[in-house]
Amino acid sequence: MNTKVNICSVELKNPVMTASGTFGSGREFSEFTDLNKLGAVVVKGVAAKPWQGNPPPRIAEVYGGMLNSVGLQNPGADYFIKNDIPFLRQFDTKIVVNICGHSEQEYIDVTEKLRGADVDLLELNISCPNVSEGGMSFGTDPKVAEKVVKAVKKRADKPLIVKLSPNVTDITEIARAAVSGGADALSLINTLTGMKIDVKRRKSVLYRKIGGMSGPAVKPVALAMVYKVCKAVDVPVIGMGGISNAEDALEFIMAGATAVSIGTANFTDPGAAEKVAEGIKKYMSHEGINDLSEIRGIID
Ligand SMILES: Cc1cc2nc3c(=O)[nH]c(=O)nc-3n(C[C@H](O)[C@H](O)[C@H](O)COP(=O)(O)O)c2cc1C
Repeated sequence: MNTKVNICSVELKNPVMTASGTFGSGREFSEFTDLNKLGAVVVKGVAAKPWQGNPPPRIAEVYGGMLNSVGLQNPGADYFIKNDIPFLRQFDTKIVVNICGHSEQEYIDVTEKLRGADVDLLELNISCPNVSEGGMSFGTDPKVAEKVVKAVKKRADKPLIVKLSPNVTDITEIARAAVSGGADALSLINTLTGMKIDVKRRKSVLYRKIGGMSGPAVKPVALAMVYKVCKAVDVPVIGMGGISNAEDALEFIMAGATAVSIGTANFTDPGAAEKVAEGIKKYMSHEGINDLSEIRGIID
């Protein structure tokens, strides 16, 4: 039985990755789960320089998931290269760096800083709803998306995954623009914009008022978008949004995804991603499936 998948010539031992921002740099989670069991660890967004993120409160629970407005807080590329890469390299898993910027120049700067870094793939986040400049604004206009992807691709020395926002009218339009800008793979979905109000305090629960919604409730939305994007483009797609167990992950694979990422589920169970990988293996063996290509994209 072969659980391996290939993303732009990078071979993952299984299709299960962590979703950026929900697994730190892997360090905290390594106490609770075996990183060797994961296809890849996708780290929290890394910028050219340290970012503070947004003021609290920036996390709230909602029905079926959570809202966050963390705002890409991170210690910057130099710290990441010095501390996080050597830590992650102790494990037999691939490293994906999620990169962020407030402007095209900042995306270029971080990509240049990461040239030569010992990582396997880059994931360009043009879909964060929690920053006032940059972030999602790059991922909601096809022309802007194509331009920033092109600029980053030119400087990238690793295959480039582009992470798409669900907060658009037609996600396939942005998907095509990212591919025409040079994306080697796509990942989706980032969080959906959402809000919660505390009626007793008559205040929005999040300091920034609006945040990003994730967790089980977004799964049907994410699945439909992954299905549509897989039909629209020819590059590998990494599906995410509300995946909590192996069955959820298999739905994304049947919709056409090559790999999946586990996000919010890590907060309720730090071993969630490892369990999903194990569950996929069990399903394959139970169903007599030798390779995931036998079920990938079987929904026509
Ligand atoms: C607390 C938190 C922080 C996140 N930070 C990032 C980030 O830094 N970069 C990014 O591309 N996505 C980020 N995301 C989005 C997730 O990677 C993922 O796309 C989204 O949460 C949907 O998956 P899920 O429902 O399994 O969580 C974050 C999500 C959460 C909940």
